[in-house]
Amino acid sequence: MIVTRKTKKIPRTQKIILALLFLVFGAATIKAFGSASILEGLSNVQQPESAARKTDHSQNPKSDSTAIQVDWVGVPKEAIGHPLVAKGDNFVTNIRNILIVKEKDDRNVFFKFLEVYKNRPDKVNMCGIRINHALALFTTVYELQPTTVIESGVNAGQSTYFIRHAAPNTKIIAIDPLEKPICGQEKRWMDPSGKTEYLTGGKFKDLYDIDWAAMTSKKEIDPETTLAFLDDHLQVLTRIPPLIKAGIRHVIVEDNYSRGRGATRSDKAGMTPKQLFFSDDPNSRWLWQNMVSYREFPPIVPSIMSVESVTQKKKPAGGFMVASDLNDDTMEPILRPDKDSGDMVIYREMAEFLEIDPRLRDKESYMQFMNYNFICYFELVPMAPAILNRWT
Ligand SMILES: C[S@@+](CC[C@H](N)C(=O)[O-])C[C@H]1O[C@@H](n2cnc3c(N)ncnc32)[C@H](O)[C@@H]1O
Repeated sequence: MIVTRKTKKIPRTQKIILALLFLVFGAATIKAFGSASILEGLSNVQQPESAARKTDHSQNPKSDSTAIQVDWVGVPKEAIGHPLVAKGDNFVTNIRNILIVKEKDDRNVFFKFLEVYKNRPDKVNMCGIRINHALALFTTVYELQPTTVIESGVNAGQSTYFIRHAAPNTKIIAIDPLEKPICGQEKRWMDPSGKTEYLTGGKFKDLYDIDWAAMTSKKEIDPETTLAFLDDHLQVLTRIPPLIKAGIRHVIVEDNYSRGRGATRSDKAGMTPKQLFFSDDPNSRWLWQNMVSYREFPPIVPSIMSVESVTQKKKPAGGFMVASDLNDDTMEPILRPDKDSGDMVIYREMAEFLEIDPRLRDKESYMQFMNYNFICYFELVPMAPAILNRWT
């Protein structure tokens, strides 16, 4: 399906697409903004002279890891004991390309996501995902099209909403001990499709207590094509055994806090993949060795974009970027408006479409783009069939 609009005025979403296409297919040299001229870039965007920036992934996906090293401090190491690591390749390696390539229906994933994000049920989602993590979750589900998504930590249902819109036919098992959302979020978004099973409130069962083996043998789930989305603020490493035992291998961790950071004691317990991989100890080694791939999703824009924000101080709990971040533990952002005028155009159009101030001056705009916690996707190694058969 080709999306055409009758009005002569180009809608903002299409302008974003045009800017994206210009970025990918245009020619000539890069006109980069230095960090010092970000504000100028924000107020006076010029048409990009360039399409292919140095880090463009569209020409040769295999060159990603080399390209990513050009001008960004955070370069992932393929070994534990570092603040930023990556293992192997998965779709996240190539995320910029995935987001901007046009599909059969003449749109791209970024475009589809923005439409969904604009209509999100809770515009603030105080205790849940905002734009960086919503994009990561949406893209993962859209790319993998899992037969089942296990969502551990539902709160107001915002993440359920993104999963459902990325995969209309997928079964979702939505788990939360609470019947009602926390953080003053009034209502839980309930999936109207009938394809989400709610294990919430009185029906709550923890990940550990669900009989995955029975569900597998009744063909209610196919573990190989099941994705687990962990957003329950519990110790991540210890949430993995029930998944392994069920043969589930695809995992997204939302609260992948860095060392010493976290909203809860469990978050700070050293058990997130990011915290584990900063060390070299038996726990980290076990997790590393049992992963086929591990990748942190990059934020959409760099922390320097919040240079004008009212919020300049790092929160002790983490969870937010600030302009002064060194970024040695952060993947290169998907867009670089700080140095590339084409990306600046995309960013401005995107922010305006979502009615967010691109300068991120007010608290709410800041919270949208700077809320980022190293959300990651990993794939566990397949369990030996003889062992798995004994368990399931
Ligand atoms: C950060 S909120 C989830 C936000 C939601 N995923 C979103 O992005 O909109 C964390 C949720 O985890 C829930 N939770 C706590 N213990 C849990 C458990 N054992 N299993 C599943 N969810 C749990 C809490 O009740 C809370 O609603």
